Amino acid sequence: MKNRFISVTLLTLISLSSLYANDIENTIIPTKHSKTLTLSSIAEIQPGLGTVMMEFGHRFYLTYYAAKAENWELAEYEIEELIEAQEIAETTRPKYALKLQAFESIYLKKLQNSIRKQDWKLFEKNYTQTTNACNACHKENGHSYIQYSLPKESPKYLKMAL
Ligand code: HEC
Repeated sequence: MKNRFISVTLLTLISLSSLYANDIENTIIPTKHSKTLTLSSIAEIQPGLGTVMMEFGHRFYLTYYAAKAENWELAEYEIEELIEAQEIAETTRPKYALKLQAFESIYLKKLQNSIRKQDWKLFEKNYTQTTNACNACHKENGHSYIQYSLPKESPKYLKMAL
């Protein structure tokens, strides 16, 4: 009897919570341009891994030339922003979260450390290792056709050497 009561209560709670979840998903958030955007459609369009990776490629490139020009502050800024971008992907694409966190603690932190030490030789060595790890992850995840390759020219639209 007692067990039956517990299971009926549980079932009621489960169905109530799914009703509630459904309600939240369908909550309309009106904007200037649309009166029909739902919370779940907004959640669905948050940046995924591909978008974060475009930022990765860009900031990873800038980090290199900033460090080379000994603009250590810029290099530090770029690597921090890169790590922040990664956190977006950890949230929106949880299946990659553990791999991304491991990549951060093994490679990105080392790179950041060589920037903090303002040690170009160490930076270069860590940069090569990180590049290999970037490309290994692409391969592991069925994207061996995506290979990061450092552009030969430094970026033109930002001053590297101050
Ligand atoms: C945890 C695995 C992982 C790591 C680490 C990783 N990537 Fe990626 N990257 C991916 C995956 C998966 C894709 C394909 C994106 C998708 O499936 O939406 C990708 C795509 C890319 C793209 C193509 C983006 C586009 O849409 O044009 C670039 C550029 C890129 N990565 C650069 C990098 C760089 C640079 C690093 C290292 C600093 C890096 N990635 C580290 C998994 C990883």
